[in-house]
Amino acid sequence: MTVRFDPIQEAKQKAALEAVKHVKDGFIVGLGSGSTAAFAIVALGERVKTEKLHVMGIPTSYQAFLLAVNCGIPITTLDEHPEIDVTIDGADQITPELNLIKGMGAAMAREKIVAAASKLNVIIGDEKKKVRLLGENNQVVPIEVLPFAISLTRKKIVAVGGKPILREGKGKLGPVITDNGNAILDSYFGEIANPAQLAIEVKMIPGVVETGFFIGLTDIAYIATVNAINKIEKVSLSRL
Ligand code: 5RP
Repeated sequence: MTVRFDPIQEAKQKAALEAVKHVKDGFIVGLGSGSTAAFAIVALGERVKTEKLHVMGIPTSYQAFLLAVNCGIPITTLDEHPEIDVTIDGADQITPELNLIKGMGAAMAREKIVAAASKLNVIIGDEKKKVRLLGENNQVVPIEVLPFAISLTRKKIVAVGGKPILREGKGKLGPVITDNGNAILDSYFGEIANPAQLAIEVKMIPGVVETGFFIGLTDIAYIATVNAINKIEKVSLSRL
């Protein structure tokens, strides 16, 4: 059943329903974080109930964990299952080459680990997530940093061309603390012509735990409007 939301929510749900079709009986599933990934967790929970599907989920955040438990999806860990069959996650920006910015939900460190452990990575989003170049529309790149190193990493991010701002919490005074106990420096780089190079430069900064750059990790993206779903697939070397 499709619940009627505002058009953006409806598009997110459409993309999520399409992505969840990749899950088969017996699969280990990486559970992404954020409002779009939440639709996928709910849809997977529905399949677990109605089709008696046997799957186990590996959540990428406390948000995903709580929702998965509520939806009746059995949980496992990366230690028990270091190989994941499919991960479904959202993104903040998606390019035609399937490079991403993630982390506006501050979960990108675990999301990237889970993505790296997955045989298939499926990204879902509404049309607003589609961009030509990462960093368009004043989008920042979230960078997770050790609290001990905030001042140093801030200086080093400026040195590679970024404008970092410490992310503040909502509903609590002070900075956002990630599920890993770290801080987030939302860093503006403008439009990014070479995200693969910049991702390496930022990751090399001592104190940086993870960046929101997801380069070359995505296999399929479903980008939806209310009326249509656009599927983008990674161009594999065998097809070049
Ligand atoms: C969390 C993420 C999210 O997937 C990303 O921020 C998109 O969130 P939403 O689906 O709510 O727009 O990377 O770290």
